[in-house]
Amino acid sequence: MGTLTGRTALVTGGSRGIGRAVALRLAAEGALVAVHYGGNEAAAKESVARIEEAGGQAFAVQARFGEPGALDELFGGLTAGLAGRGLDILVNNAGIASTNPISQVTPEEFERLLAVNVSTPFFVIQRALPLLNDGGRIINMGSAASRFAVTMQIGYTITKAALEAMAPTLANELGRRGITVNTIAPGAIRTDMTAGYSHIPEVVAGIEAITALGRLGEPEDVADVVGFLAGPQGRFVTGQTVDVSGGTWLGPIA
Ligand SMILES: NC(=O)c1ccc[n+]([C@@H]2O[C@H](COP(=O)([O-])OP(=O)(O)OC[C@H]3O[C@@H](n4cnc5c(N)ncnc54)[C@H](OP(=O)(O)O)[C@@H]3O)[C@@H](O)[C@H]2O)c1
Repeated sequence: MGTLTGRTALVTGGSRGIGRAVALRLAAEGALVAVHYGGNEAAAKESVARIEEAGGQAFAVQARFGEPGALDELFGGLTAGLAGRGLDILVNNAGIASTNPISQVTPEEFERLLAVNVSTPFFVIQRALPLLNDGGRIINMGSAASRFAVTMQIGYTITKAALEAMAPTLANELGRRGITVNTIAPGAIRTDMTAGYSHIPEVVAGIEAITALGRLGEPEDVADVVGFLAGPQGRFVTGQTVDVSGGTWLGPIA
């Protein structure tokens, strides 16, 4: 029996990248996992199929965040799939990146970044609260980008800092119910989001040079930490940001 047997989980953006690895990890521990996706149905089906092939349980839920009615779609699909059960683990993972300096960020791009990366997880949590069982877990996917300055990511950085700011207050509000709320802050992880630069040797070498562990991360590096926080071993950790960057930009490496 896994540490999450009998538990339920929603992983937003569970169709690809970090979210898929998280969905697989939670399902491997025994949780029934709702694999949310925005538009890539084939990828979501693959996540579900991989979970089922490994003996786990999952179902896919579609909702295009940042568009009208998205949360109704999400919670309609979620409650149907849970069939009367509550929710134990909420992983707000879906997110979008930005690669523009301030001079090129349009109001439309900034609004979309805020809508998908900040407003959506905020209102997903609000809508999930009545479903959330005592002893539950809320885990938001922030970014190590909120800790250091990258000119080309200013819009993204601001959204991840705002997301990170939710955990302490929510942790205080929900702690008496045994619900923990934490942020995970990954560094550069090999996914579709980083595919634009993760194949360029000079860029990879630059990231490795400022990273204590000397490599980019893999989705499983992040999923293992989510698994820890979501499981019984994470019960006394709340209101925190957990950096999962292999020690990126800690200071000069001799
Ligand atoms: N990769 C990194 O280096 C890194 C570092 C720090 C933090 N993060 C954060 O980790 C999270 C996952 O990143 P990733 O690298 O795994 O990203 P990814 O490979 O680009 O996957 C993004 C996931 O989010 C979903 N999504 C994106 N926009 C959506 C929208 N408008 N509505 C609904 N779903 C949407 C996608 O669904 P579809 O498959 O349907 O498109 C997909 O499942 C993000 O919050 C990201 O900011 C990533």
